[in-house]
Amino acid sequence: MQGMNKSGTGEIRRVSVLGSTGSIGRNTVELLAANRDAYEVQALVANRNAELLASQAIELGARLAIVADDSAYQTLKSALSGTGIDAASGPVAVEAAARLPADWIMAAIVGAAGLKPTVAALEQGTIVALANKECLVCAGRAFMACAAENGTIILPVDSEHSAIFQSLDQPLKGGLESITLTASGGPFRTWTRERMAVARPEDALRHPNWDMGSKVTIDSATMMNKGLELIEAHHLFNLDSDRIEVLVHPESIIHGMATYADGTVMAQMGVPDMRTPIAVSLAWPQRMAAPVAKLDLAEIKSLTFEKPDIKKFPAIQLARDAMAAGDQAATILNATNELAVAAFLDKKIGFLDIAGLVGERLARADFVFGEDTSSDIDSLLALDQETRHLAGEEILAKAS
Ligand SMILES: NC(=O)c1ccc[n+]([C@@H]2O[C@H](COP(=O)([O-])OP(=O)(O)OC[C@H]3O[C@@H](n4cnc5c(N)ncnc54)[C@H](OP(=O)(O)O)[C@@H]3O)[C@@H](O)[C@H]2O)c1
Repeated sequence: MQGMNKSGTGEIRRVSVLGSTGSIGRNTVELLAANRDAYEVQALVANRNAELLASQAIELGARLAIVADDSAYQTLKSALSGTGIDAASGPVAVEAAARLPADWIMAAIVGAAGLKPTVAALEQGTIVALANKECLVCAGRAFMACAAENGTIILPVDSEHSAIFQSLDQPLKGGLESITLTASGGPFRTWTRERMAVARPEDALRHPNWDMGSKVTIDSATMMNKGLELIEAHHLFNLDSDRIEVLVHPESIIHGMATYADGTVMAQMGVPDMRTPIAVSLAWPQRMAAPVAKLDLAEIKSLTFEKPDIKKFPAIQLARDAMAAGDQAATILNATNELAVAAFLDKKIGFLDIAGLVGERLARADFVFGEDTSSDIDSLLALDQETRHLAGEEILAKAS
């Protein structure tokens, strides 16, 4: 961490954005564009949206733009011709971009594809603003160990984890009893299982409060998102499952809470807008202005809460069980879920099949429980690939 601007002293912070063309990435680019004097952009990374990536790189004056998908390289190269911005493609180039000297990096690639590049950034000691929860779901122990070895600071970007991070960051020390992740309940909170069985992708993509990428929006509808966040919180805050609560809060105003032994509950509130937690991480340890609407509680009038219905949303319990079983089970849960969400979006399987397939894959899988010794990142990525193969066959069988 030597020689880097981590003190918030007003020096220019060198930053890179992995997944800059996605929902989190675009919000990050917007904040960077509004604060050009404070940030120097090193690398921007996308999968294949070369046009948007090139225009972001030009707008921010980035040094380098990379597409993971080689087939998008020519488009990127010609869009950047004459700008002096370098272009590259392929997974090796993505990892190399994550290793470029920088003070801060946004990890906002979606899915397990984000794991290797994010680990590459951890190894450089770059501050990692972590949106990609799948990194912690798949390889939580190895990921946190890598951060500790390299003295790397991880700043959570998921709104719930950012809220808890802020609720824990206070002068009074000790006495933490539990943390609470709030959940909007998603678009099907009031639907019956019968109605959910025939839900279409367009129904599930209609999130009541948050505007997000399609994968995380479907995860919100199944409430697998909250399950993934439970595993994420377990690793980030080093707390066991019984100290992490989930509370359904349909207005999405309170994002997370920390409960202390003296009865104090610290909660973070704000309108549901991802630019707030992104700004918290981008300016940390200072604060910066973000163009979000002001919270008007008199206008909102009431905030409501309910317990999650785990019969209707079995994904929450599947994730709790996988968390207890260890990284291998969590990797299987995550890989099967990624494939099942894609199959649902392709209209190959029904909505309830998503959690159904995850439960069946976990029940059939052969994995080591608890403190297994094979949970290094490469073996977990191999398990991720093997699971995708098996789950792919199970999805085909269900689709036919
Ligand atoms: N959106 C939210 O509000 C929100 C909130 C909390 C947490 N998160 C988490 O943040 C992460 C990103 O979510 P999102 O909603 O921003 O996703 P998204 O809109 O689908 O964007 C994904 C980004 O990753 C890029 N990408 C995909 N595969 C890649 C690969 N193999 N190599 C390099 N780049 C790749 C995409 O590039 P292309 O555009 O070229 O495909 C895009 O830039 C997810 O882990 C999600 O769970 C999101």
